[in-house]
Amino acid sequence: MREGTVLIVGGGGREHALAIGLSDSESVSQIHVAPGNAGTSVIGTNHPISASDVPGITRLAVEIEADLVIIGPEAPLVAGLADDLRTLGISCFGPGANGALIEGSKQHAKEIMRELGIPTADSVMLRDIDRMTGVLDSMGPPWVIKRDGLAAGKGVTVTSDIEKAQHAATSAINKDGSVLIESFLEGEEASLLVLIDESDFAILPASQDHKRLSDGDSGPNTGGMGAYAPAPVAEISVIERAISTIIAPMHEYLSRGESPYRGCLYVGLMIRDGHPSVVEFNARLGDPETQVTVPLIESDLGLLLFSVAQGKLGEFNLEISDNHAATVVLASEGYPQNPVKGREISGLAGSRFDKRAIIHHAGTKISSGKVVSSGGRVLSATGIGESLSEALEGAYGAISKIDLKGGHFRRDIGSRALDRPLSGPKTEE
Ligand code: AMP
Ligand code: GLY
Repeated sequence: MREGTVLIVGGGGREHALAIGLSDSESVSQIHVAPGNAGTSVIGTNHPISASDVPGITRLAVEIEADLVIIGPEAPLVAGLADDLRTLGISCFGPGANGALIEGSKQHAKEIMRELGIPTADSVMLRDIDRMTGVLDSMGPPWVIKRDGLAAGKGVTVTSDIEKAQHAATSAINKDGSVLIESFLEGEEASLLVLIDESDFAILPASQDHKRLSDGDSGPNTGGMGAYAPAPVAEISVIERAISTIIAPMHEYLSRGESPYRGCLYVGLMIRDGHPSVVEFNARLGDPETQVTVPLIESDLGLLLFSVAQGKLGEFNLEISDNHAATVVLASEGYPQNPVKGREISGLAGSRFDKRAIIHHAGTKISSGKVVSSGGRVLSATGIGESLSEALEGAYGAISKIDLKGGHFRRDIGSRALDRPLSGPKTEE
C-alpha cells in the first residue's frame, strides 16, 4: 500500500491510538474513522456511522475507496463486516465471522481449546437452573460465572459469595438460556496481542490490563482502567511456553480453510509459576492494551496492518522499541453501572501530541465547540519512557491536568510490576 486511504471502525481509545499511529505512517495519506471521537476528529475525518452498522460501514468503505479497513470492536467482526468487505475486494484487518466466534462464544472457544489441548480453566455449560447448586458445590469458591456472548468485558462475575454466584448464574440463564461456570485460575494476568495471518504470527509486547474499577484490584470488573507494557510477568520463558502450547496451535487452526484469520488474536493469560493458561480469547486488539502497545511499534503501522490484511505478515520486518508505556483511564462518575455523560472536559490543551504523554480519547465528543464526555471510559493518558516509572510519571502527570466533574482514575496502575508482591485471589467483596 502506497499513500493509502484507511478507514478505522470504532470510537474508543484503541481507535484513537490506531489513528495516531497511522498518522505517523508514510504509507497512509487519509484517515477516516467511524464513528470516532473528539480525538480522532483532529487527525482524520469522522463519519457518524455506528461501528455495528455493517451495511453502513461497508457503503462508507466503498464511497471513500478505502485501501484498508481496520476493525476495532468485536460486534462488527462477529456480525461479519470483514467478510462483506473482503467479498468486495477491500483489504481488512480483522477476522471474518467464523474466526470472530472465538470471542463471540466462550463455549466455542472452550471447545477449540479442548480439541487443541490448550491449557485453560475447566468449565461446565449450564442450561438448567435446577442443576446450578450441584455444579457450584462441585466447583467450590471462588466462582467464575461467564455469560456466553459479547458483554463488553462486563459479562464475568468472580465471587466467593454463593448468593452472588447464584444470582449471576440465574440471571445469565434467564437472559441467554445458558451460562458458563469455570474453575478459578490463580496467578497473574497478562494480555498478548498476536498479529495473525496464514503466513505467520507476531507477538506484540505483553501488557497487563487493570480490569477492576478501584485500587488494589477491588470493585467490579470494567472494560479496563489502565495498562502498561511490557509486562515483566510475561518473561521470555513464559512467552516461549505460550507459543508452543497456545499460539502455534491456534495459528495452525486459524489458518485452515478458505478464509483464514487475518487480524489480532488477543490472548488473555493467567500465569502461575511460569505456566500460562488461557482466560479468554478476543478476536481484536485490546482496549486499553492497544494504547500501550501501538506506541511501542517502530515499524510503519499502516504497512504492518496492511501486510496482515493481505496475508503477508511473514514478509514484514517488525521493529519494536525498548521503551515502556503506561496508560491511566479517566472514567465518568457512576462508571461502570450508570456513567454520567455530557460533562465538559477541560485541561486538554497542549497535551495531545507530546511525545512523553499522549491523550487517547474514548468517550468524548465535540458539542458546541467544547469537548464533552459521551461514555463511561472518557479518555486515557498514556506515558512513554525508558522505564515503567518514567512512563507512569508521564501518564499521571498528564491525567492530573485534566478536569472532569466526578471523573475518577486508579492510582495504582503498574504497581504490580514496580513492586512485585501483589497477588492472591481476586474476588468481589
Ligand atoms: P474475561 O472476560 O473472560 O476475560 O474475564 C474477565 C476477567 O475475569 C479476567 O480478566 C479475569 O480477571 C477474571 N477471570 C475470568 N476467568 C477467570 C478464571 N477462570 N479464573 C480467575 N479469574 C478469571
Ligand atoms: N482490555 C480487555 C479487552 O480489551 O478485552
